[in-house]
Parts: sequence; structure tokens; C-alpha cells
Amino acid sequence: MKVLVVGNGGREHALSWRFQQSPHVEQVYCAPSNPGMKNVINIDITDFEELADFAIAEGIDLVVPGPEAPLCVGIVDVFRTKGLKIFGPNKKAAQLEGSKSYAKDFMNRHAIPTAEAGHFNNEADALTYIQEKGAPIVVKADGLAAGKGVTVAQSIEEAEQAVKDCFEGSFGDAGYEVVIEECLIGEEASILAFVDGKTIKPLASSQDHKAVGEGDTGPNTGGMGAYSPAPVVDEALWKTVDQLVLQPFLKGVQDDGLDFRGIIYAGIMVTEKGPKVLEFNVRFGDPETQAVLFRMESCLAEAMLASVNQELADFNFAWSSDPAVCVVLASGGYPASYEKGFEITGIDEAEAATGAVVFHAGTSIIDGKLVNTGGRVLGVTAKGKDLREAVDTAYAAVDRIHWEGAFCRRDIAHKAFDR
Ligand code: AMP
Ligand code: GLY
Repeated sequence: MKVLVVGNGGREHALSWRFQQSPHVEQVYCAPSNPGMKNVINIDITDFEELADFAIAEGIDLVVPGPEAPLCVGIVDVFRTKGLKIFGPNKKAAQLEGSKSYAKDFMNRHAIPTAEAGHFNNEADALTYIQEKGAPIVVKADGLAAGKGVTVAQSIEEAEQAVKDCFEGSFGDAGYEVVIEECLIGEEASILAFVDGKTIKPLASSQDHKAVGEGDTGPNTGGMGAYSPAPVVDEALWKTVDQLVLQPFLKGVQDDGLDFRGIIYAGIMVTEKGPKVLEFNVRFGDPETQAVLFRMESCLAEAMLASVNQELADFNFAWSSDPAVCVVLASGGYPASYEKGFEITGIDEAEAATGAVVFHAGTSIIDGKLVNTGGRVLGVTAKGKDLREAVDTAYAAVDRIHWEGAFCRRDIAHKAFDR
């Protein structure tokens, strides 16, 4: 089959890499892609009509949008109207990620455990709620804010400042409505599951590292590394998550009449009172995907087609028992401002010497040289017979890659080792 991947991050590079290895996939096209991806299509990906026409002309069998942005503005609706098979929720269902208050209402309506929250569209009421509840407390811009719209405030003053930032436009339109919620304590895990409207099937568990600094310190980022499986999700927890989150999610989708044939990503906090959902995303996690797909032995394209065709019940996922880890190499200064344009060296050598795979995220070719142009630049991903071997291999590859200012966290998977 022919597959079109839409997006240009590390996640999309990993998706296209996994597709390329499938005997069922004859060709993978990528738009807009990045320097790590092959078969680049030169089409403005915000022009859904043109992209869909290309897919029809080329006989594409499966379209896979990576990021949330095209899903939230309705890429699935346009492609389905044109008779194309596309993996993802339609625009209405994508609000589960696009609007935190929509997601909160969905969870409350369908009894999915989550933090208690209030929803406000004016500053004064938001500030009163914070005074009532006290700190610690979490302030979230309602709309999409590229992972930066959440403040876990340790003091009332910090929470008040976060509310003011939202209403002063720090997150653009995303911030004029805020969700303020109870601060949950526990260990986080990423639960990804395929859904076809009739069936829900989880992928292997994983854990992200959102903070920029070792020991989970400093500001939040898009994710500095991930590993799979996450030992916090043991068999008992899987059972609870299935009972309390996945099955109610599926029933909620059915009861609300949502067209959701794609992947749901539940960020969960494993609290003393059991798992609670921090957020839903309607796409693959980045960098969790790099680690999870490294372990997938079944055909990703077939799994996606089964979801789109509502035949997921007949599909069985198979996983390597070897753990995988992805270490993100970032530009000096990230997640604040950073310098771009430094030449990146050592990728080929790192891959050849260690067997790791280096997924591109924030790279470009300028004047014939590979340079850093994003905050998160590369996802160095490796597998091992145990987690220690996977981690050591990933860092052995990391140590062969250079550009000015490059840094990574040296403690990816520390929670698994701490156990
Ligand atoms: P979100 O974009 O909603 O996943 O939030 C980003 C990060 O903020 C999460 O991965 C958590 O680390 C943290 N966070 C979000 N909501 C809460 C909460 N209610 N309690 C504690 N931490 C939270
Ligand atoms: N790794 C976090 C996310 O993809 O949202």
C-alpha cells in the first residue's frame, strides 16, 4: 500500500521509518517532512484540498496526520469527504485535545477519573476560584498552546500570574478561557490506544520526561526523552486503566456520536487514589512514539487501516519484549530562546557504531549543511535486551553527535531505575 505522512517532527520521522520497514507498504510519502524523511512532497499542508487531490492522483491508501493542528481544523473531514482513508478523529472529536474544557466535560460526563476543575472566561472569577482553592493549583490555557499553556503553580501568586498571562494574551486565543484544576501528585505515564468506534486497543506503555532538567527540574518542554515500557504501568494498573479510562472513553465516543477512528493518548497521573487523566491528545505522543514504535512488531499501516475500516477487533498488536528509549538532543537555551544554524555532525557514525536510529525533529539543510533550526532537534532511539542496555546504547550514540550548544538530559528512564 501507499502511505502519506503529514508533519515534520520526530514523531512523523518515526512513523515514516516504521512504515518503510513494512512488507505491506510499497511507498511512503512525506509532507512537509524533515531532512530525515524520504519522498518529500512539496505541497502546503495547510491546503487540505490540494493535499487530498494529490493523494487521490497518487493512489494513496492511507493518510496519517502526525500533529494535532491539522486534526483540530478538520483535515479528516476534508479527506473523508473525498473518499480517502485517513487515520484520526474528525474535527469535532479532535476537540478532545483542542479544547481542555471540552475534554473535561467529556470526562465528567462519562465518569473518567480526572482532576477536579473550574472553567473560566473572565479573569476576576478565575482569581476568586484560586483564592478559594489555594495552592498548589494548576492553571491551563483552554486551547492549543504547543505544550506551554500549563502552569503547575506552587503558590497563589504564581497561579494568579498565570491567569493574568492567559488573559493578557500570552497564549493568543488559546488563553482567553482557562481551566483551573486540582494539583495531582504521583507518577505520570502515557497510555496510547487505537480506537475505531467499536473497539479500543492499547499500545505498549511509555513515559515521557517533560521537564528540561535532570531530576525533572526546570520548565516544561515538549518532552526531553521517553522509554517503553513504563514499569509503573504494571498488569494491575493496566486492568484499572482499561476499566476506568479506556472502556469509558470508547463508550463516551459512542454515546456522544463522535467519529473517532485514530489514536487516543491519555496522559495519566498514577495517584494514591488510582489513575487520573491529566489530558487527552488525539495523536501520537512525541517523543513517546519514537520509543513505542521501536518495539512494535506488527504492521503499523495494517493497524491503522483496521482502525479506519472499523476492523480493529480482528487486529492483534505484537511487541518486542526489549525495552526502547529515546533521548532528545535539544538546542542550547531551549525551551527559552535558542540559537539556530549550527552544523550538526556525527549522525551517520553514531547510527553505524551503535545501531541506534536518529530521528530528526528540528533540523534543516541550509547551504548543503545539516543544521539545527528547532528547539528539540534529534531523537536518538535505541533498543536493548534490558533497559540499561537500551539507555547505554542511546547515550553512546548521543556522544558521537555534535553541534554548538547541543544538550540532553542524562537521566532518561531514571524512574524505572529508581524502582
Ligand atoms: P497537559 O498539557 O495538560 O498534559 O499538562 C502538561 C503537564 O503539566 C503534565 O504532563 C503534568 O506534568 C502537568 N500537569 C497537568 N495537569 C496537572 C494536574 N492536574 N496536576 C499536576 N500536574 C499536572
Ligand atoms: N510527549 C508529550 C506530547 O506529545 O504531548
